[in-house]
Amino acid sequence: MRLLLCGAAGFIGSHFARIRLEEHGDEVVVLDRLTYAGREENLRDLREHSGFAFLRGAIEDREAVEAAVQGCDAIVNFAAETHVDRSIAEPDAFVTTQVMGTYVLLEAARERGLRYLQVSTDEVYGSIEHGAFTERSPLEPSSPYSATKAGADLLVGSYFHTFGLPASTCRGSNNYGSHQYPEKLIPLMILNALHGDPLPVYGDGLQVRNWIHVTDFARAIGCVLERGRPGEVYNAGGPDECANIEIVQRIVQLTGAHESLIEHVRDRLGHDRRYSLSSERVRALGWAPRVRLHDGLARTVAWYRDNAWWWEPIRSGAYRSYYERQYGRALTAAPRSASAPLP
Ligand code: NAD
Ligand code: DAU
Repeated sequence: MRLLLCGAAGFIGSHFARIRLEEHGDEVVVLDRLTYAGREENLRDLREHSGFAFLRGAIEDREAVEAAVQGCDAIVNFAAETHVDRSIAEPDAFVTTQVMGTYVLLEAARERGLRYLQVSTDEVYGSIEHGAFTERSPLEPSSPYSATKAGADLLVGSYFHTFGLPASTCRGSNNYGSHQYPEKLIPLMILNALHGDPLPVYGDGLQVRNWIHVTDFARAIGCVLERGRPGEVYNAGGPDECANIEIVQRIVQLTGAHESLIEHVRDRLGHDRRYSLSSERVRALGWAPRVRLHDGLARTVAWYRDNAWWWEPIRSGAYRSYYERQYGRALTAAPRSASAPLP
């Protein structure tokens, strides 16, 4: 297949691109706007591959999409503004990318009769105290991020029902692994712990997330692309649930940092308490997660410890001012160099 992967310079899409090129022999065209979260470095090992092409452009830009989609058999849409805290502070780009962007991609797929796969999130269901969300659970998004993702999912469903577009949606739980931008819980805590910076836990830290390793989510998306039924939604949840405070304590152990770095800070507005997904439908297609949190987290800590080249430019750039706005304090002034020993 020749796949148009939108937003694949980000965390999950770059893992998906690598798996499709290296394990499935697909051709891959990446269309990415390269926002603060999109980084060509995430694809750097794929650039020499004959089946790989990269185009910089926004999914809400019809001309950019027209140019990228030529000759493609399917569109997989990863492109999104993805950080809940940023959606609370500045929702504008979330509406444009999620809603307008998805609409433009759906139109491009409809004109050509292409297979379409929307990458979505468990957050569209809202928070659940007990049990797990199935694909039939109502959509009750809490944040501007999840509301705009739900809006995009509804548009995708409408293109199947109205126009017969062969479109499916795959909703994942919280991903973790290498190449994740350090605004998200796990990489933020790892890098702060390695630098001896405070570890800011929102509220009581007892919020629960359903963690999935990024390669497991990427494989679930591939499974839906190949074997999923048009018009269906597929949940892909990880094998482990964990309270935030337990994740942070484990990162403290793995990095050799001191537990006194943990600080409980003001809670996120409208903070969802617990996410949990039932994944029976995608399991029936032959998918199962392979990575348990205990091992995957240790590997993720090791990756960040060994790949300062990847995160140093982030920590010394615009991320610092984001961090000060969000957390009201500066990061350690002088980041360690790649050669300096980390604890
Ligand atoms: P990310 O923030 O790492 O990457 C998003 C990518 O989209 C970046 O490369 C960015 O440059 C690009 N992008 C943003 N706006 C764009 C636009 N208008 N046009 C083109 N490109 C644009 O995100 P991620 O964590 O890799 O998430 C990918 C997808 O998976 C998103 O749709 C997200 O909602 C979904 N998802 C994420 C998680 C998670 O835990 N990270 C879980 C479930 C679902
Ligand atoms: O559930 C899937 C979603 O997971 C994706 O759709 C989103 O794109 C992705 O960002 C993620 O959303 P969360 O809000 O769950 O992830 P985040 O890493 O921001 O936060 C995880 C939990 O940790 C959440 O309960 C908030 C908490 N947290 C987060 C940060 C950044 C803290 O306690 N302190 C922090 O500094």
